[in-house]
Amino acid sequence: MIIQLLLLIFNLYGILCIPQQLHMAQGQDPSSMIISWISKSKSESGLVYGLELSKLDLVPFDTTVTQYNFKYPGMQDYTSGFIFHANLTNLNPNTKYFFKCGDIESKYTVSSEFKTLPLTNNNPNYNLNFPLVFGVIGDIGQTPDSINTLAHLYKDKLVQMILHAGDLSYANCNQTEWDTTSNIKLDIS
Ligand SMILES: [Fe+2]
Repeated sequence: MIIQLLLLIFNLYGILCIPQQLHMAQGQDPSSMIISWISKSKSESGLVYGLELSKLDLVPFDTTVTQYNFKYPGMQDYTSGFIFHANLTNLNPNTKYFFKCGDIESKYTVSSEFKTLPLTNNNPNYNLNFPLVFGVIGDIGQTPDSINTLAHLYKDKLVQMILHAGDLSYANCNQTEWDTTSNIKLDIS
């Protein structure tokens, strides 16, 4: 019984330590990406990346961490987790990268991957020989229908980038709704 209780506490601790709300956003051009996540711990969270999952030997150009408080009449006071933004630069165009973030020295990390966009015709090394395919969504909210729509979009392997037109959360001043919506959208972010 005591062992089971200890295992439960250990598992709950692990769940708290795993990074949440992982998001990726395109940087200014195909050579940069911004990876964001939220952690309960400020000091132990980081990111490593590379061209192979087994060789994550690169570190971001810089990583920022912020936290904010939110008060609104009639709502419970809210304090966010620690919000990390890692700026990955000098990426090769049209290339798949792997990364993991969180407590790098432990098992409390999240791994994912992304593929950079091809070069555009604004670049002197013009190499765009096929169209870019965008998925466009909006007013997605966080209902079961939202999850189905996102899953449908995620399965479409032709889509290279997703544009969200807005109304992501319908949080209505309840900041915890931003946390839940950000975790729902993990698959496409
Ligand atoms: Fe809307």
